[in-house]
Amino acid sequence: AKLEAFRNEPFTDFKQEASKQAMEAAIAKVRSELGREYPLHIGEERIYTEDKIRSVNPGNLDETIGYMSKANQELAEKAMQTALSTFETWKKVPAKERAAYLLKAAELMQERKAEFSALMVLEAGKNYAEADADTAEAIDFLNFYAREMIRLSEINETMPLTQVEGEDNRLTYIPLGVGVIIPPWNFPLAICAGMTSAAIVAGNTVLLKPASNTPVIAYHFVQLMEEVGLPAGVLNFIPGSGAEVGDYLTTHPKTRFVSFTGSKEVGLRISKLAADTAPGQIWIKRLVAEMGGKDGIVVDETADLDAAAQAIVSSAFGFQGQKCSAGSRAFVVEEVYDQVVEKVVQLTQQLRVGLPEHNFPIGPVIDEGSFQKILDYIEIGKQEGQLLCGGSKAEGNGYYIEPTVFADVSGNARIMQEEIFGPVLAIGKAKDWKEAIELYNDTEFGLTGAFFSRDEDRIAEALDTMHCGNLYVNRKCTGALVGAHPFGGFNMSGTDSKAGGYDYLLLFTQAKLTSRKK
Ligand code: NAD
Ligand code: ALA
Repeated sequence: AKLEAFRNEPFTDFKQEASKQAMEAAIAKVRSELGREYPLHIGEERIYTEDKIRSVNPGNLDETIGYMSKANQELAEKAMQTALSTFETWKKVPAKERAAYLLKAAELMQERKAEFSALMVLEAGKNYAEADADTAEAIDFLNFYAREMIRLSEINETMPLTQVEGEDNRLTYIPLGVGVIIPPWNFPLAICAGMTSAAIVAGNTVLLKPASNTPVIAYHFVQLMEEVGLPAGVLNFIPGSGAEVGDYLTTHPKTRFVSFTGSKEVGLRISKLAADTAPGQIWIKRLVAEMGGKDGIVVDETADLDAAAQAIVSSAFGFQGQKCSAGSRAFVVEEVYDQVVEKVVQLTQQLRVGLPEHNFPIGPVIDEGSFQKILDYIEIGKQEGQLLCGGSKAEGNGYYIEPTVFADVSGNARIMQEEIFGPVLAIGKAKDWKEAIELYNDTEFGLTGAFFSRDEDRIAEALDTMHCGNLYVNRKCTGALVGAHPFGGFNMSGTDSKAGGYDYLLLFTQAKLTSRKK
């Protein structure tokens, strides 16, 4: 049967009592399974190690999500050898067959959507809508990349090369080899599933090293891929220390590519290590590195100010500001500055902080390290701007921080320049819309941005001059949709790989030209 065109998985409406109850039931079910021990997956083997990562609910520190076995260098080497030998068979599996595993996984994930989301509520501290959007995006990636691989495999029919008399010219996208997949914890299902499935469907075998804060949700994805019959050894699961296992694999001579999403600091380290050639290495490693952001929203005096304030607040505080796309900066022109700031403060004050499982708009940040770092930045902010709301930790047995707004912050302040990755918004005043765009562009990052205006000429100029990978007009700067908003950033935000777009799978293939004399 012909595959239907790709469509985004719809979001669940939790205002419907039935959806809310289904989520509560899913949380209860997931809770009844907490505290288990989980193994590594290396080929057919399930390996439980002595040394384990304890995954904790960041909203309730007494609750253990699970104990995840931890790979060391020896086990990472074993996984590498398994992936290398499995590559010899997996690369010969036809693209359509490879795609079928992703399509089946998408179907099953769709059926178990509430359970996947519930696990993220407990392990990552997402509220219902944030967790649901994460699961929907994971389903989208699986469905999208499956179709993309089929499209690439049929490219000679749909987009033939220039044919030369007496020759048959064809282009084939063949896989690269063994890849190391290193996702972050903040989209613990979507980004993990997207990065892994793209590499696999393109014919590579992988070593997945999940983020240490969210290994259990990553494990559930790995189990799903096993359930749909993905051959053993294609997806090897090796949680472990970034420094130990990550560095070992990044410098390994048999690593063909590294696909990383995470902070600028770690991304740059991987870039440096991967650039070196180890003895016996016969290729330049391919690196896909998607990194941090210091994203922002620009508002001019013609804009719909209510819509702008709403967008600023949801971009800054959705998932506690822990999105690479989070709008942690806003630049507002003088004429409407006070009005916008007042609206932003009013909306922020309505955001209540509490347990994700009770679906509070603001939950905890991910761990102790982030918690301290964000509180330190709040202290810095008190020197750099005017604190208008929030400014401290919040009640609860977890890493809760009040959504915090600073106004009158200058463009070169640290809280305007450095990625805080928490619920902290810095607002700056500009004399006009041009200066506001200049302030927006004054950053080493370049991931997402938004421009609010009703003036068509200004919108046209903003579209040209705001320098970022994902630029939105009159809407928030978070919430990119697979297929509709291919995602990736400029400058220190990374290699602009455009996840969820038509170029993405090319990063995990190499194009081979064959020209046959007739
Ligand atoms: P992080 O850089 O701390 O960790 C990311 C991953 O790298 C984790 O799996 C971690 O264990 C691993 N790691 C750590 N040290 C390593 C090493 N030496 N070698 C190999 N791997 C190593 O980032 P995080 O805290 O998990 O995620 C938050 C960051 O990710 C933020 O900066 C955010 O902006 C960014 N992010 C970017 C995007 C994007 O698409 N651009 C998307 C989501 C998150
Ligand atoms: N895809 C996520 C967003 O756009 C990162 O918010």
